[in-house]
Amino acid sequence: VTELPGRVAVVGAGVIGGAWASRWHMRGVDVSVSDPSPDARRIVATVLDNARVAWARMGLSPETEGTLTMASSVGDAVEGAVMIQESAPENVEIKRSVYAEIEAACADDAVIASSTSGIKPTQLQGEMRLPERLVVGHPFNPVYLLPMVEVVGGTETAASTIEQAMALYTAAGMRPLHVKVEIDAFIADRLLEAVWREALWLVNDGVATTEEIDDAIRFGFGLRWGQMGLFETYRIAGGEAGFGHFIKQFGPTLAWPWTKLMDVPELTDQLVDELETQSDAQSGMHSIRELERIRDNNLVDMMLALEKNQWGAGEVLARLRNTAVPTVQ
Ligand SMILES: NC(=O)c1ccc[n+]([C@@H]2O[C@H](COP(=O)([O-])OP(=O)(O)OC[C@H]3O[C@@H](n4cnc5c(N)ncnc54)[C@H](O)[C@@H]3O)[C@@H](O)[C@H]2O)c1
Repeated sequence: VTELPGRVAVVGAGVIGGAWASRWHMRGVDVSVSDPSPDARRIVATVLDNARVAWARMGLSPETEGTLTMASSVGDAVEGAVMIQESAPENVEIKRSVYAEIEAACADDAVIASSTSGIKPTQLQGEMRLPERLVVGHPFNPVYLLPMVEVVGGTETAASTIEQAMALYTAAGMRPLHVKVEIDAFIADRLLEAVWREALWLVNDGVATTEEIDDAIRFGFGLRWGQMGLFETYRIAGGEAGFGHFIKQFGPTLAWPWTKLMDVPELTDQLVDELETQSDAQSGMHSIRELERIRDNNLVDMMLALEKNQWGAGEVLARLRNTAVPTVQ
């Protein structure tokens, strides 16, 4: 059992920060939050509502939730925190100024983690007093449910910081993945952007609507990906002859002109209008709150099914069920 931290701070509490606060809160950990927006309190409360419903559905509601404090300054929020999760807007200058505020008040041995989706940690830690304790912890929405968090160090990040971050995220019920080579956008978003780019071309070229593209994913390979990913699935596709056979047979097709490679369609007003109209037709009958609940219920039930099979994200859930925080029976 990895030890839970006494206190965690979340600096920047929009979509992602609110969800980080909720995850730790559901693990019974005290969380202090700082965000200059007058909307932050409401956003955090809304995300926490969703997290409570989801954790109850998983049978993991803690007997005692942690405390959740909206601090009046970054300094107040980070004092005494073992880990500080920065989730401020995706802008190097803003993040750097937030680190200056954090470092003025936090403990010298606190881990400072950034939720950035793609900025390299070396760029973020450039002006810090103690850059060795800065690490990227890139989560996936909804952060209170999905186990994956990419952990990336910069050139000045200490090995011990990476280790601490991995241990803390494990304690939060997550599956940290150490991205060993520092690249823009890390691993998962590089993959997602390839699919996203092709999807935009398919709409742009009038081949498929947003709904048809989503159907092509969710009724087929999306289900495979959710439990095995890409390479293990393709290994099976190679049959008894294995992966080598598969790659020899299908690998060369990647050079066929199916893929637009790095070429991105121009986001003209017309394409943006088309995407919006199609997305409204596809999903406009549900509010965003309804969609969040539908998504969460589906994700929870998929993870519960995987837990029964002791597989993939279900293994993480099984481990979480066996860890120290007493849950409501
Ligand atoms: N949205 C996603 O799906 C997603 C996924 C993974 C990672 N991220 C990353 O998480 C970070 C936050 O993204 P988001 O989608 O939550 O954005 P957001 O706009 O919803 O939230 C950002 C919050 O930061 C606050 N803020 C602004 N200046 C601040 C300051 N000086 N100090 C403290 N807080 C400040 C804002 O008031 C806002 O509440 C970004 O780095 C983003 O790349 C986002």
